[in-house]
Amino acid sequence: MKITESKLYRDKCYINGEWIEADSRETISVNNPANLEEIGTVPKCETAETKRAIEAANEAWPEWRAKSARQRSDILRKWFNLMIDNKEELAQIMTIEQGKPINESRGEIGYGASFVEWFSEEAKRIYGDTIPDPLTDRRIIVLKQPVGVVASITPWNFPNAMITRKCAPALAVGCPVVIKPASQTPFSALALAVLAEKAGFPKGTLNVITGKASAIGDELASNPIVRKLSFTGSTEIGKILLQKCAGTVKKVSMELGGHAPFIVFDDANIDDAVTGAMQSKFRNTGQTCVCANRIYVQEKVHEEFCKKFVDAVSKMKVGDGLNEENSSGPMIDEHSLSKVEEHVEDAVALGAKVAIGGSKHSLGLNFYQPTILTEVTPQAKITTEETFGPVAPVYKFKDEKEVIDLANNSPYGLASYFYSRDIGRIWRVSEALEYGMVGVNTGLTSKAEAPFGGIKESGLGREGSKYGIDDFIEIKYVNMCGLDK
Ligand code: SIN
Repeated sequence: MKITESKLYRDKCYINGEWIEADSRETISVNNPANLEEIGTVPKCETAETKRAIEAANEAWPEWRAKSARQRSDILRKWFNLMIDNKEELAQIMTIEQGKPINESRGEIGYGASFVEWFSEEAKRIYGDTIPDPLTDRRIIVLKQPVGVVASITPWNFPNAMITRKCAPALAVGCPVVIKPASQTPFSALALAVLAEKAGFPKGTLNVITGKASAIGDELASNPIVRKLSFTGSTEIGKILLQKCAGTVKKVSMELGGHAPFIVFDDANIDDAVTGAMQSKFRNTGQTCVCANRIYVQEKVHEEFCKKFVDAVSKMKVGDGLNEENSSGPMIDEHSLSKVEEHVEDAVALGAKVAIGGSKHSLGLNFYQPTILTEVTPQAKITTEETFGPVAPVYKFKDEKEVIDLANNSPYGLASYFYSRDIGRIWRVSEALEYGMVGVNTGLTSKAEAPFGGIKESGLGREGSKYGIDDFIEIKYVNMCGLDK
């Protein structure tokens, strides 16, 4: 499929229910990372268009929040149904602009849609409270109300699901949204807007603006009308946005970088651990915040694990994600590829051994070979910095105490994983890991029902689950007095 032939293809922004160009008529080119060809362009909007999108959302707010929870839920449900009906087309658009293997894109559309389904249901369950007052003529009532206009800044690695994970709860509670998708993957976001329009969201309730990230981001973070900013991306940009949001004391959710430890204890089922490591490390060509970044294997099972892990990696097929046979696509761009090359070269210079891969793929362009490094040293950059690529560094450890200290020795605290069959150890290690998410005997924990998020420099707030609603709500306390008269 050519992306421009899709009925979901739009090359304009969606603001206040209209498809618009940038005031300057300038555009940004979007390229397929698998062959670097231009697949289309989107408007290069800046501050003025962002202001208009925010104002449109604010104007839409009274009507949207006044709808009953049931009415908002019904519109979200229609959006979910449309996503499922158009799953294949959305998946094709995603692979063409993002590069991930088509089966992973199909998986992401299902994953993204599951947040819309989940929050269409949660919309009806936003319960307040009544609290006994210390005085007999009074009652304390707790109301939960929408926070107001929400800005969502979303990344290129999950061009669909990161939008729905933020916007579905916002819309469910009655907040309008302004979405700024990553410049590398705007077409998935615009396709979602096409379906949102069909689902019947009133104009201005959901807006998508593309363009200059710094100008749009600055406006979204500093405009006083925006009451909540939700960001997924690097810790570096997250910190800048946090400072900008401080100026108007906005609510914030930050889903930032990670450096996930993946631990294999000697009582683990090694075949399961290899399957988990493959899932966790190589999903989206290693370009997720929850990818395993440090694989710690206990001495006794180190050799067996490495042998089976190398064997599994040797079966991976690298290439254009549109080819059903390929299980690893291109890196998003040259910059990401260079970081991977730098981490591997640095680790090898410091003593690491290349068990498989270790260099650019013969396909050239942005393709890198799925790689396993062993005997990686603590000084290597890969031990402390997020690689965001298909490289698995493996380390040997002696005992539980040592590996917990190693795993927690990071400013990040997003995902962590371990494999063990010992119930005592499962409890101890789950409680000791300083991470927002712990996968036990699994390499994949993400689902709509569970709270996604990190601690330390990995972020603030939770997305998905019943907790994912809280970040879009203000709690209002009403003290009703004089009730005995
Ligand atoms: C991310 O990498 O930002 C999200 C990954 C996920 O939702 O599983």
